[in-house]
This record gives sequence, structure tokens and C-alpha cells, in this order.
Amino acid sequence: MKVLLADSLATECEDILTRAGLEVVTRPGISQEELKEEIKGYEGVILRSGVKITDKVLAGAERLKAICRAGIGVDNVDVEEATKRGVIVMNTPEGNATSAAEHTIGLLFAVARKISQAHKSLQKGEWKRDKFIGFQVAGKALGIIGLGRIGRQVAKKAAALEMRVIAYDPFISPDITTQYLIQRTNTLEEVLSQADFITIHVPLNASTRNLIEEREFNLMKPGVILVNASRGGIVNEKDLYEAIVSGKVAGAALDVFEVEPPKGNKLLELEQVIATPHLGAQTVEAQKAVAVEAAEQMADALLGKGVRNALNLPVVNPEEFAQLQPFINFTERMGIFLMQLTGCGVRSVALIYAGEIAKKNTRLVTDSFLVGILKPCMEEGANLVNAPSLAMEKGIDVSVTTSGLCGDFTNLITAKVKTETAESAVTGTIFNKGDARLVFIDGYTIEAVLEGMMLVVYAKDRVGLIGGVGTILGSEGINIARMAFGRKKAGGTALLIVNVDNPISLKALEKIEKLEGVESVRLVQLPSNGKQ
Ligand code: NAD
Ligand code: MLT
Repeated sequence: MKVLLADSLATECEDILTRAGLEVVTRPGISQEELKEEIKGYEGVILRSGVKITDKVLAGAERLKAICRAGIGVDNVDVEEATKRGVIVMNTPEGNATSAAEHTIGLLFAVARKISQAHKSLQKGEWKRDKFIGFQVAGKALGIIGLGRIGRQVAKKAAALEMRVIAYDPFISPDITTQYLIQRTNTLEEVLSQADFITIHVPLNASTRNLIEEREFNLMKPGVILVNASRGGIVNEKDLYEAIVSGKVAGAALDVFEVEPPKGNKLLELEQVIATPHLGAQTVEAQKAVAVEAAEQMADALLGKGVRNALNLPVVNPEEFAQLQPFINFTERMGIFLMQLTGCGVRSVALIYAGEIAKKNTRLVTDSFLVGILKPCMEEGANLVNAPSLAMEKGIDVSVTTSGLCGDFTNLITAKVKTETAESAVTGTIFNKGDARLVFIDGYTIEAVLEGMMLVVYAKDRVGLIGGVGTILGSEGINIARMAFGRKKAGGTALLIVNVDNPISLKALEKIEKLEGVESVRLVQLPSNGKQ
């Protein structure tokens, strides 16, 4: 499998991927046009902020399985389109937070004390001490917008600088603000109107684009200082320019821009502005950390060793994932089996979890069942990433409940599928040693293994039924691997499931259909064990 490094990444990235047995191609500086073509040959792409993975880039990326952003911001990846295509999108959220927070504090001092302006002046041979009178930060109110990983680290460092920290982040629990001794505000307006310094640490998305524009500048204290080391586009650059020129904003430090590299950006002409070229994460330590995390995550994802920091998969830790893995494998098989019994055109599915499994986070187990019901009827590949959105797109109603009724079993999973014309329900369990069995099919008690080629026969329970089926299969040279039999009452309808080792011909199926008392015969094909 091949991985494209579409940005410059620390050397550790390539080393780790190569050691994992993956082929690596490094193309830092690749253009968008080149990327559209190049991406077609890869299973994985690792990038930073140098390229954009848009819907157009993804259009030809048939082999692509995983994208990893070495860093946190995924505003340069079309996550929705990747999800529809079943491509995992990961980031490395921890690796550069400390460096980004340190850079923020650096910018805060630099703008408050006019350090780069003074440096430039000195380089010109000037000695203008009165021109560069700055502001002390101790005792001032620092308003933090966005109290995630970076915002919290900035809060901690600012508190050590004796700043009074106030913050706005509607999505975090009050415990965090208490823990970090931060004054929490309930509205953005409150933080804007109280702060002497404002720093922004939110992701760029539809709701944060232009979060700070004319209206917000009007709410700020006169002479406020603004730092933005999050993303260009969160602060409206035209309105910031006006706010600085009008004197409302005394100074701004910018690490990020609406267009990078900035072209003809008037903000860079203002002496109240200091700027760095997106350097927040540009430290030896952060670059090594994100490169290592991205490479390890990519190798694990492509080699089936688990997925971490995925933005389009439910969050489960590796230990939980290991416990869920047998159920994930089994429910996909249950879905494939049911689809072949009912046929395509599913309207609704219902999953009922009982026993130990009901106490776990079953999102992936349910998604895996959806993969099973979607796979036999769709040309494009359904997988754990895109199954929920594909099911929704197809108008399939999915319900998940838990039940206390588990009988003698440790865990039970019941799956019901309804199409326009048919419905079917199966219940399965995983025994302690990891053996997975179907234990009920449409009300028949049975013990069937979901693997390989399976013959599903409904017939009147009579002497000679099993022998009749066995004789036909034997005469065709078909070896029987397993056989399971269930009936509700003697002489009523019985269910016979036969796992066979060789393909069954149409002729043999017709012969079985013609046996006395046979009501229906279906051939169901499942992956052989361990090969889903
Ligand atoms: P994070 O996901 O840990 O935290 C983001 C926080 O923003 C979350 O707590 C979220 O609740 C909050 N938030 C979202 N929308 C909000 C809103 N409208 N108002 C207030 N709060 C809101 O992310 P992080 O690691 O702290 O990084 C923040 C951003 O910084 C990243 O998304 C990235 O774009 C940027 N970043 C820049 C650099 C750089 O080099 N300059 C480096 C790393 C990260
Ligand atoms: C990030 O989102 O992690 C930053 O923008 C850092 C970077 O990629 O340079």
C-alpha cells in the first residue's frame, strides 16, 4: 500500500511508514492540479496546511482509505465528502498544542511591547525609546475565545503572568473553567467587552468564519490588543484593518491569514500589526510529534490495527475496540445474511442489544451491521466510515435499543430488517471463547455459524428431509461442513441450515426445491471465516 506525504513533514514520518512496510512518496509543495492526479495511486495521504483535499481532489481517489492531517485543523479537508466516500479522516490533535500556546504568548508580548517594530527600527540605525512604549500584561484581563487544548494552555501560562483570564467556550463543561481558575462568560459579547487582550483558539468552520467582525470590534474596549494564531477567516481582515486605523484596536498579532501566503494584505502595512507566517506549530518538537503521530496512526489504520483520532468514526479507546472487535465482525455477517434472506430495498432496521454487550458503546457494532446490509446491494464500498450516512441517504430507519432479556446467554444481539415486501429477524451471540453463533432465526431456535456458502431450507418437518438434502448434495460432490436444524413443533415447518465447502449448482438447488415438503430454498454467501 502507498502513502503520499503531500506536505513537508519531519523525517520520522517517512521512516515509520517505511518500517511498517508501506511505500512512501514525498511531494511537498505539490500543486492542487497535480494532487488531483497523483492521489489516484494512493491508499493514504498525510498533509499539513499546504494543500487542500477538496471534493474535486477526492473525485478520482478510488484507492484512498485514509487521510491524516499532521496537526489539528482539518479546514483544508472536505471531511463530509471523504465520509461519503468511506475515507477515514484523522488528525493529530495533541502534538503541536504546546508550541501553538507558546507562540501565542510570544505574540502577546511582541505586540504589547512592539518588539518587532523596535527591532526593525534599531536595524535602521535608529534609537527611538519613546516611540516604543508598550503595555504590561500583568494585571490585565485576557479574553480567550475557545478553551480547547491550546486555549487552556494559554490560560495556564497567562495566569502565571498574573493576567486575569476570562474565557468564552459554550461547548466545554464549567468544571474545566473552575479547574483552570478561569472566569467563564456565557456570551461572546461579555468576553469581548471585558478583555484588555483577546486571543482566539477556535477551529475554522461555518459557524466561526467571520466570528470577529465589525459588530464584535464595536463591543471591544478601546485600545484592545488582539492575537490570532488559530485560523485566517475567523477574524474579518477588512474589519480588523478599519478597527486598527480608527484606533479601536491598539495592536494585533497575526499568525494566520484568510489567504496563505497573504497577497497584497493591507494589514501587513500597518505599524500596529506584527505577523508571522503560520509559525504556531513550527518547532522542532511539535513537528516531530505530529509527524510521528500521523505516521503511526496512518500505518495502524491502513494495516487494520485500529483507528485513532478519526473525525468521522465514533471514539473508542484501543482496549474497548479490542473487546468490540468480535461483535463488529459478527454483526456485519448478520447484516449480509439477513440481506440475502430478505433481498434489497431495506426500509428499516432495528438492533436490540442484551446482556454484557448492552453495557458497551455499540455505535461501531451497529455501524458494522449497516455495512453488512448495504454491501450486498450497493456497488460502492460501504464501510464503517460511510455506512451511517449511506443508510440515512437511502432513507433507512435505524433504531437501537437495549433489553434486559438475555436468558442463559452472556450477550445477545437481535437484528430485524424490513423491506417493502419481506421482513426477517435473527439473534446471535458470542460465546466466551469468541465463537459467534446465530441462535434464533425468525423464531426458530438453531445454532448456525455465519461463514462461507450456506443453504437455508424451510420445509415440512418429516422423516427423510435431512437425508434427502444430504443425498442430493453428496451426489453432486458437495461436501457438508456443518448442519443445523430447528423447528417450532414436530411435523410443522422446520429450518435447515447447511454450510457447504463447494459451490452448489443450480441443478442441485432445483432438486432440493423439488423434495417433498420443501417450502423455500436460499443460497447465502458469507465471507469465509476471518476474511470479511
Ligand atoms: P480544540 O478542538 O482542542 O479546541 C477548540 C475549542 O474551540 C473547543 O473547546 C471548542 O468548544 C471551541 N469552540 C468551537 N467553536 C466555538 C465558538 N463559536 N466560540 C467559542 N468556542 C468555540 O483545538 P485546539 O487544539 O485548541 O486548536 C484550536 C485551533 O487552533 C485549531 O482548530 C487550529 O485551526 C488552530 N491551530 C493553529 C496553529 C498554528 O500554527 N497557528 C497550530 C495548532 C492549531
Ligand atoms: C494545525 O492546525 O495544527 C496548525 O495549523 C499547524 C500546522 O499545520 O502548521
